Amino acid sequence: MRDSSSAPVVPARLWDGPTRIVHWALVASIGFAWWAGETGRMDWHRLAGYTVLGLIVFRLLWGFLGSGSARFASFVRGPRATLAYVRTLPSRAHKAMPGHNPLGAWSVLAILAALIVQVVSGLFSVDIDGLESGPLSDRVDFDTGRVFAKAHHLSFSALQALVVLHIAAVIFYAVYKRADLVRPMVTGRGKFETDPALTFAPVWRAVLVAAAAVFVAWWTAKGLRV
Ligand code: HEM
Ligand code: HEM
Repeated sequence: MRDSSSAPVVPARLWDGPTRIVHWALVASIGFAWWAGETGRMDWHRLAGYTVLGLIVFRLLWGFLGSGSARFASFVRGPRATLAYVRTLPSRAHKAMPGHNPLGAWSVLAILAALIVQVVSGLFSVDIDGLESGPLSDRVDFDTGRVFAKAHHLSFSALQALVVLHIAAVIFYAVYKRADLVRPMVTGRGKFETDPALTFAPVWRAVLVAAAAVFVAWWTAKGLRV
């Protein structure tokens, strides 16, 4: 039996709008890039890839300039804190955290790293007959472009594995710990034992960071040329 007296009851804001929009836009654009790549619609594939690039640039900047729960400094923890958290996993009690837990934080970084490799390798990729290529592939010779294409395929397998693990973790929390992590990622609000009193970044800052991200994605799509 769970101790209902420690059940989190205080509703409070957890994830800001930009973090949630970036998350679900990543899910949609990665899914679309996958479908377009598999069905040979390479113009659409590249477009989805530039969207992913813009979303990652936004998320990385937001990790330094965004709201409290989105900042890397607020959730990236060392091995000691991570191990201490891992030891609490077998317990069915769930303590809602004002952000990612220390283990989840590493999976977030791993997914972001895999996405960076995915996009960068795509930018330099050339297909076997040199017909389809990324906008930076003319900076490398054909053989190197093929190595990037192989890396692009490999990193997609890694990304798929990480996403499966990610969804398995969400299901583990839902079923074993009876903690719904998805609702806060949709509504932005969670329930806590005490109000975490997080800070939230102003909308104008999100607009400026989004403009920077769009510029980077657009300029990269142009092959980083003026
Ligand atoms: C998260 C973003 C991306 C995902 C999930 C992704 C996924 C994939 C997948 C699954 C394939 C293999 C398709 C197949 O042969 O069946 C592929 C191929 C390819 N992708 Fe991406 N990609 C992404 C981003 C990009 C970007 C940004 C570019 C360049 C602008 C790009 C350029 C290419 C090219 C040129 C190929 C063909 C390579 C070859 O045939 O060996 N991709 N991608
Ligand atoms: C392509 C698929 C996916 C990718 C690349 C992905 C990536 C991410 C990333 C990068 C974060 C960190 C959020 C941030 O701090 O910005 C995150 C968090 C999260 N994702 Fe996903 N995600 C994917 C699919 C899903 C799906 C399908 C679900 C729902 C079942 C989901 C549920 C969540 C939840 C609940 C969190 C917050 C976890 C927490 O409370 O610490 N994700 N995801």
